[in-house]
Amino acid sequence: MMVTRVFSGIQPTGTLHIGNYFGAVRNWATMQDDVESIICIVDYHAITIDIDPKTLRHASLAMATDLIACGIDPEKTILFVQSDVPAHTELSWILGCVTSFGDLSRMTQFKDKSEKQAFVSAGLFTYPVLQAADILLYLADGVPVGEDQVQHLELSRRIARRFNSRFGELFPEPKPVVGEKGARIMSLSDPGAKMSKSTGESHYVGVMEPEASIRKKVRSAVTDMGLEAGHEMSPGVANLFEVLELSVESTGETGLVEELRADFENGTLMYSKLKDAVFEQLMAIIRPIQEHRAQLEASGEVLDMLHSGAQRAQAIASETIARARSMVGLGTRAD
Ligand code: TRP
Repeated sequence: MMVTRVFSGIQPTGTLHIGNYFGAVRNWATMQDDVESIICIVDYHAITIDIDPKTLRHASLAMATDLIACGIDPEKTILFVQSDVPAHTELSWILGCVTSFGDLSRMTQFKDKSEKQAFVSAGLFTYPVLQAADILLYLADGVPVGEDQVQHLELSRRIARRFNSRFGELFPEPKPVVGEKGARIMSLSDPGAKMSKSTGESHYVGVMEPEASIRKKVRSAVTDMGLEAGHEMSPGVANLFEVLELSVESTGETGLVEELRADFENGTLMYSKLKDAVFEQLMAIIRPIQEHRAQLEASGEVLDMLHSGAQRAQAIASETIARARSMVGLGTRAD
């Protein structure tokens, strides 16, 4: 990997599902051993749409607990809550002034999200500027994100370039870091759509969900009529194989996938067998994560971990913001 410092953000709202886990969180946990890693729970982004204050505070802590349980080690990774480092918003203002209105108007995520809101806030429109600030504040050169964030990242690079050419070299241009397996898990009940918590309970498997409920969801996953040699694999079955393959990467049971694939080719695969395998392999990953989460909750130490994460983040952020302020000519204290 050719990057030296990676930064990624995750919204605190919503349950962590296996799509997030295989698509992002597991890669972050692997990466933290090789490269300086910063993971931010983006609560300032969360308020771009209507959210209850109590829900938000609880969600930020819950997301941090989930991430640590999933293997983000707060000793290795700088893990913190965005609003604990207020420089994010200060840099965001400055960067907003080198962001083109036209560029922001072309953001597809804004178009999608604003259609779903009765009240469309200016914050929702400038969301990508804050995202650029998140990344650039730490001079990060790599951003591990999924496909859906590529456009935002492209804008972050344009913003960095415009700042640098106007005020002088400060920001590296952040590159997307895509996992070798661009894991894209589909909904269990509608395999044509990406797994997402917003489409409803039956569509996703939550990492912290009770075992019985996971079993039920996997068992009722959409497949096809099956049992016909050489027939084309339907999206639902392909998705189950994808989940299985991603799971055995951690459990090491690769032989199982080969066996089931061979059965499929021969037209002898009972989907109930495939589903049982998916369930077992998933649970082999999920069980220890859930146990770790319970320990973390009982110990009550996550808040302290977040505070020390914020301090480490602050140390980097305050240097960058001081340089940015001075390059732009802000304030009365010249240095
Ligand atoms: N917009 C990202 C998402 O919805 C979250 C995010 C905020 C982010 N700031 C970031 C991702 C900085 C990467 C880098 O998933």
